[in-house]
Amino acid sequence: MAADVPDGYDVLVLGGGSGGYACALRSAQLGLRVALIERDKLGGTCLHRGCIPTKALLHAAEVADTARDGARFGVNSSVASIDMPAVLRYQQGVVSRLHKGLQGLVSAATIDYFPGVGEVTSPTTIRLGDTTLTGRNLVLATGSRARSLPGLEIGGRVLTSDEALTLDVVPGSVIVLGGGVIGVEFASVFRSFGASVTIVEALPRLVPAEEESISKALERAFRKRGIVSRTGARFAGVTQDESGVTVSLEDGSTLSAEFLLVAVGRGPVSEGMGFESAGVVTDRGFVPTNDRRRTNVPGVYAVGDLVPGLQLAHRGFAHGIFVAEEIAGLAPEPVLDRNIPKVTYCDPEIASVGLTEAAARAAYGEVRSYEYNLGGNGKSQILGTAGFVTVVRAVDGPVVGIHMIGARMGEQIGEAQLVVGWDAMPEDVAPLLHAHPTQNEALGEAHLALAGKPLHAHA
Ligand code: NAI
Repeated sequence: MAADVPDGYDVLVLGGGSGGYACALRSAQLGLRVALIERDKLGGTCLHRGCIPTKALLHAAEVADTARDGARFGVNSSVASIDMPAVLRYQQGVVSRLHKGLQGLVSAATIDYFPGVGEVTSPTTIRLGDTTLTGRNLVLATGSRARSLPGLEIGGRVLTSDEALTLDVVPGSVIVLGGGVIGVEFASVFRSFGASVTIVEALPRLVPAEEESISKALERAFRKRGIVSRTGARFAGVTQDESGVTVSLEDGSTLSAEFLLVAVGRGPVSEGMGFESAGVVTDRGFVPTNDRRRTNVPGVYAVGDLVPGLQLAHRGFAHGIFVAEEIAGLAPEPVLDRNIPKVTYCDPEIASVGLTEAAARAAYGEVRSYEYNLGGNGKSQILGTAGFVTVVRAVDGPVVGIHMIGARMGEQIGEAQLVVGWDAMPEDVAPLLHAHPTQNEALGEAHLALAGKPLHAHA
C-alpha cells in the first residue's frame, strides 16, 4: 500500500468517479504506479446519482408510456399503477450490478484503492487520515454536485435530482425549475408516471444549449404530452407546507404543486480539499486547465466535471484516459468540448454533436444545412414518432454539426459523432449504406441530400 511505496506513486488520483477511475485504470494499464482515493462509492455521480439511475427511471417511464399507448398499435393495454418502490428496486439493481462490476475491474487492476477522505497537502501529497500518499503527479477528479439559487433552500418538498431519484411516491404534480438537461429528463419521467408538470425556464427556450429548432420541437412534443413550459420566466421564491409548494415568479404570478425540483445546473466539488495548499487556481470553485488538462501547477491535472465546460460522464472518461497517457509520455490528442456527443434522454430524445447552425456560421461564414423529417423514415413511422435530423456542413466542406430529435435518436449519436469527428464530407458518407428499415437511415438520407442526391426526400 501507499506507505510502503518507498519513492511514491507515479499518479495520485483524488476522486473515483468517471474521470478519476478511468484515469486510474488507464494508468495501471500503462504500468504506472497509481493510487485512487474515493470518499464515497466508486463510480461517483454518474453511477450512483446521475446517468445510470436516471436512465433507469426513464426506461420505466417508457414502459409506462408503451403500456398506456398500446391501443394505438392494436394492443389493448393500460397502466394499472406505478409501484415506485418496485421501480426503485429495479433502478438500484442496475446500479448495484454495475457497481460490483466496476469494483471488480479496479481490484483486478494494479491500482491501490484507498477508501476515505483525501486532502491535498502539496502538489505531490495527499493526506488520508494518518497516512500521507506521495506521487509525482496529482489528478484532481472530485466532480460536481447539484447547485441551487441564492436563498433557495433544498429540503422537504424542494428537491434536487439527488432526492428526486429516490422519491418513493409518484407525485400528483411537480414544478421543475430549469429547462436544461436534468429539468427536461425529470419532467419527462414525472409526466410518464402520471404527474402534471410545469417547467420554469429563465431563458426563452427549453434546452437552450441545443439548436433552436430542437428546442421548438421539444416544446411542441412536451405540449402534446401535457407538460407546460413557462419559458422566459424567472424564479422569485418558494414557500412550502405539508401538502405542497408555492412558487412565485418575477412577473408576479404563482404556481402550486406537490414538489419543486431544482435543476439549475451543477457546481464543482472542491471546497475544503486543500487545493489551495497545492497553489491550484480555482474559478468559482472549478479548476481551469489548458487543453492538456494541466492546472497552473506543474504536475497537477484536473479532469471531468471539475473542469469548466460540458459536464458529461464520457467527457470525464476521455479526460481521465488522456491524462494517464499524457503522464506516460504518449502525447495523446487533446479532448476538446466541441465534438463531444450529447444525448438528452427525455421523450422525445435529443442527440447532437458539433456546432449548431448559428455557431457554424460564426466559425465558417456560409454554411449549408439539411433537415430530414422523420415523417419520411419508415422505422420512425412504425414507432409512431415525430422529429428530424439536421446535418450542417461548411460550404463545400465537412459536416460540422448534427442535431437530432425523436424517439430513440440517442442511439444514432454513434455514427453522427464519427462523421463530425472525422471531418467527413457528405459525399464521403453518401455511398455508405444504411440498413433498411432503421431510424439510422434518416442520417443517411440527410447526407445523401447534402451530397446532392436525395432519395426519400420531398424537394
Ligand atoms: P443546465 O445548465 O443544463 O440547465 C439549467 C437550466 O436552468 C438552464 O437552462 C438555465 O437557464 C436554467 N435556470 C438557471 N437559473 C434559473 C432561474 N433562476 N429561473 C429559471 N431557470 C433558471 O443544468 P442541469 O439541467 O441542472 O444539468 C447539470 C449538468 O448535468 C449539465 O451540464 C448536463 O449536461 C449534465 N447532465 C447531463 C445529462 C445527459 O447527458 N443526458 C443528464 C443530466 C445532467
